[in-house]
Amino acid sequence: MLDKINALLAEINDLSVNSHEELESFRLKFLSKKGLISDLFEDFKNVPPSDKKEIGQKLNLLKQLAAEKYNFLKLQLQPSDDKSLVNDLTRPSVPYNTGSRHPISIMRNEIISIFERIGFTVSEGPEIEDDDHVFTKLNFAPEHPARDMQDTFYISRLSAEDSSPDDILLRTHTSSVQVRVMQNQKPPIRTISPGRVFRNEAISARAHCIFHQVEGLYIDENVSFADLKQTLMFFAREMYGKKTEIRLRPSYFPFTGPSAEMDVSCTICGGKGCNVCKHTGWLEVLGCGMVHPAVLEACNIDSRKYTGFAFGMGIERPAMLKYQVNDLRLYFENDVRFLDQFRSAF
Ligand code: DAH
Repeated sequence: MLDKINALLAEINDLSVNSHEELESFRLKFLSKKGLISDLFEDFKNVPPSDKKEIGQKLNLLKQLAAEKYNFLKLQLQPSDDKSLVNDLTRPSVPYNTGSRHPISIMRNEIISIFERIGFTVSEGPEIEDDDHVFTKLNFAPEHPARDMQDTFYISRLSAEDSSPDDILLRTHTSSVQVRVMQNQKPPIRTISPGRVFRNEAISARAHCIFHQVEGLYIDENVSFADLKQTLMFFAREMYGKKTEIRLRPSYFPFTGPSAEMDVSCTICGGKGCNVCKHTGWLEVLGCGMVHPAVLEACNIDSRKYTGFAFGMGIERPAMLKYQVNDLRLYFENDVRFLDQFRSAF
């Protein structure tokens, strides 16, 4: 069999064609389903195991060479008109292939631009944080399960049993940026904080250990729950369309009270019920609430004078909905075939 392969390799190497007919007979002879190479692959099944490696490699080489030769000969046969075009130096150059923004960046920029229009600034904080900013100042009790190693990636932990405000960790939410802003600025504060967050989760189509959030914070005199509702309504309608309805469900977060979760009417079926909203007509998009007085005090803001609201949302989920992406992992693999499909004005 090896001799046969070698003979064919030599034949293909020396081959030249003068017409499309000859090229087609080359394809039929070597590359078609009933061609010589296909036959050899069929015979390969009977090769003794000891020879399989050597013959297999040679056979693959033959197949590759035949395909390359075919493409080469095809190019050679291109009409002379085409060739003169290739050599025409006055032709415009080959279009420059520009990159595209990552879908998560497009979504983040869209969210930022909506809140910027109503006076929010953008603030950022570190991804490597301490327990104080991620948990303690946000009113998490010392034994709160979110501090558990199961959820949080610790970089250094002072005691194996108890958490300490000095423990160093990867932030599990962007709410830590609220604390930094409140510590460094005086009210009125109106800011959003986009960023990456980290949680110790198994990676699947619907969950990842790295994802993105946008946090919102508004502190001033007389800020009320009605202001929160109005702001979120504005956001939902800018983001998901003018007819979008919102719904607030009571919830719990240590750093807000009262707390709520916001749903928007399903962006796919408009609220009628479909697979995406699991036939409820609603999609959960963010958590929110009035900033807890203990959080204001921990950040040296007078809670008798000032009130505020906060909210936090993920970026991956709305981006999956918007672009109908059904596997979260695609966002992290950076496969150009995936990324190339996104174009944006942002
Ligand atoms: N930090 C919360 C989370 O990661 C999200 C959140 C909920 C942020 C309510 C807020 C808020 O500011 O008020 O799940």
